[in-house]
Amino acid sequence: MGKYQMIATAAMGLEALVAQEVRALGYDCQVENGRVTYNGDEYAIAKSNLWLRTADRIKIKVGEFKAYTFDELFEKTKALPWENYLPEDAEFPVIGKSVKSKLFSVSDCQAIVKKAVVERMKKHYKRNTWFEENGALYRIEVALLKDVATITIDASGTGLHKRGYRAAQGEAPLKETLAAALIMLTNWRPDKPFIDPFCGSGTIPIEAAMIGQNIAPGFNREFVSEQWKWIPEKVWDEVRTEAEDVANYDQPLDITGSDIDHRMVKIAQENSFEAGFGDLIQFKQMQVKDISTTKEYGVIVGNPPYGERLGDKPAVEQMYRDMGQAFNKLDTWSIYILTSHEEFEQFYGKPATKKRKLFNGFIKTDYYQYWGKKPPRSTNGNIEKA
Ligand SMILES: C[S@@+](CC[C@H](N)C(=O)[O-])C[C@H]1O[C@@H](n2cnc3c(N)ncnc32)[C@H](O)[C@@H]1O
Repeated sequence: MGKYQMIATAAMGLEALVAQEVRALGYDCQVENGRVTYNGDEYAIAKSNLWLRTADRIKIKVGEFKAYTFDELFEKTKALPWENYLPEDAEFPVIGKSVKSKLFSVSDCQAIVKKAVVERMKKHYKRNTWFEENGALYRIEVALLKDVATITIDASGTGLHKRGYRAAQGEAPLKETLAAALIMLTNWRPDKPFIDPFCGSGTIPIEAAMIGQNIAPGFNREFVSEQWKWIPEKVWDEVRTEAEDVANYDQPLDITGSDIDHRMVKIAQENSFEAGFGDLIQFKQMQVKDISTTKEYGVIVGNPPYGERLGDKPAVEQMYRDMGQAFNKLDTWSIYILTSHEEFEQFYGKPATKKRKLFNGFIKTDYYQYWGKKPPRSTNGNIEKA
């Protein structure tokens, strides 16, 4: 087995959650801005792709060095052991980005890295002619930050948020990675009831069901690194078989998604079927103000409209008021709402127990958390089941 430096990229604010997931897979890691780094073998590449719910993508770090001039970028890129990663027929486009660096022309950096890799490969494979690049894809990235170049190969392909179940979506769907993060930030356990009152295309309820039954988020999709010859097929087979073994399809779930818009309810149902949950998740058309339940100690996670569009604000603020009143009756429930509306607490009617800053794409939001009453302790010291 080889040893690779790995990077799991994370949306701003989700790094600690990604790190928690990487550690749960058994890898020690370091948390940096927008990424979590760790070492691992081929199994780590397969497992990370298959299991990380909150990471954006998995990259293999080929090298990292200071580069103030194009010459330096060329020579140091050429000195990296590309032949360990790229076969002779590899397709290897180069993308790039540059932040606060002397080498700011991204297109020039990309061209130079490409040339350096070609030079190295020509020497190794003893060729004078062009590479056909008709084999597996190895997308190289040169990322410059404060004159440090990090050179990586993307091992995911399509971003990890694409689980493969969302055939249709509504107007402002959440990224699946953020939806999973919102759930992981709650105290929900699969034996508790769960409601998403603004379910839209069903992302949050579907992610909750996957977490509840311990289903690997990447189980129904492929990854670009599955085409790489140096990761034996048996690695992917083993990792997939293990995922199948640990999935708990018998775990009963009490997950409901509701939305004011019946078209959304239909889309959510279709996506739930696509994800393999069929009728296991209940979807219904309902306004948030009509939500009531006699169940206890449940969790509500909601991503309501933010009222950012001109003219929407008063209606959204009234809806927040109505929501506050409806949820006020659910004192054993923990309620978690993601919105960019800065006066949310005022309209909702009470200050949050805790707030956490998160980005929904480029929108700065807060995750308002209202913790419910704790279940009573039974005489034997165990917490009674709700
Ligand atoms: C930001 S979207 C939610 C997107 C969803 N998380 C997803 O991933 O697709 C907000 C949803 O709230 C619904 N909505 C708006 N007002 C509502 C209300 N008063 N009660 C319930 N749902 C409402 C909208 O129809 C819309 O689908």
